[in-house]
Amino acid sequence: MTFKALVTDKSADGKLSSQVQALEDEQLPEGEVLVDIDWAGFNYKDGLCLKGAGGLVRNFPHVAGIDFAGRVRASDDERYNPGQEVVLTGWRVGEHHWGGFSQRARVKAGWLVPLPKGLSGREAMIVGTAGLTAMLAIDRLERAGLTPTSGEILVTGAGGGVGSIAVAMLAKLGYSVTALSGRAELSEALRAFGANAILDRAAFMEEADKPLEAARWAGVVDAVGGAVLGKLLRQVKYGGAVAAIGNAAGIESQHQCVALHPAGGGTIGHRQRHATL
Ligand SMILES: NC(=O)c1ccc[n+]([C@@H]2O[C@H](COP(=O)([O-])OP(=O)(O)OC[C@H]3O[C@@H](n4cnc5c(N)ncnc54)[C@H](OP(=O)(O)O)[C@@H]3O)[C@@H](O)[C@H]2O)c1
Repeated sequence: MTFKALVTDKSADGKLSSQVQALEDEQLPEGEVLVDIDWAGFNYKDGLCLKGAGGLVRNFPHVAGIDFAGRVRASDDERYNPGQEVVLTGWRVGEHHWGGFSQRARVKAGWLVPLPKGLSGREAMIVGTAGLTAMLAIDRLERAGLTPTSGEILVTGAGGGVGSIAVAMLAKLGYSVTALSGRAELSEALRAFGANAILDRAAFMEEADKPLEAARWAGVVDAVGGAVLGKLLRQVKYGGAVAAIGNAAGIESQHQCVALHPAGGGTIGHRQRHATL
């Protein structure tokens, strides 16, 4: 039986194009579990893969799609049975291994997760990999001791995929959230997501720099990195925590931070103030 997939190929002159094609199971890459895909998210990385940017895809033809939800069609692994609902995100699927922009995928059993109870495949893909990233960030902040009574939480890149879901999740969990965004036109939407206050990115960056600024943030979900991360680190409250999950603005100031705090990854002493990054 054939199925349809969005196949991306590279022409002799190096240009990429994608077309819906009929494929057969034999054409799928190796793996223990064959999945009928119901839903796939559309992530920034998918755009890179479809356009050939960032060197993420090395072999063509290719099927992009970094996450998907579906039902097991056949399995050589005892953990999965036909009909079982599953989700996949990560493992370089959609980059090195054919991914979710297809009606069918064959993947390693260890890459799959049973669909959690109470969540439909569609909902899982609406939350998507960006939402999972936001969840992991919030989980890390809470494991660092953050609670809704700790104080104001800053979310940067709030208009983006990770940031917008982080705003909504934090608000739902009872946190007071300030959304930092460069797009004033999103203010209303961010308030509807639950943001308590909106901070204009340009105005934030124009505030005069001081080595140690007034402590404002009990916690931060930072999707932006770069100079924004460099600035906000000086404003984190004593005992606060920063979950830095991205570098949409670049990496220069992060290098500076690493240089300041060579231990990396663990507890970071920022001058006299102690924050966990
Ligand atoms: N999406 C994922 O699944 C995922 C997973 C792990 C890590 N990440 C990383 O997290 C970061 C954000 O991912 P995303 O999917 O949320 O991307 P996104 O949807 O493109 O959002 C990024 C946001 O960052 C802000 N931004 C963009 N360029 C900026 C600049 N030059 N200076 C300051 N702010 C800037 C913008 O916020 P405003 O619109 O509010 O202005 C933009 O919406 C990326 O570095 C990505 O690699 C993403």
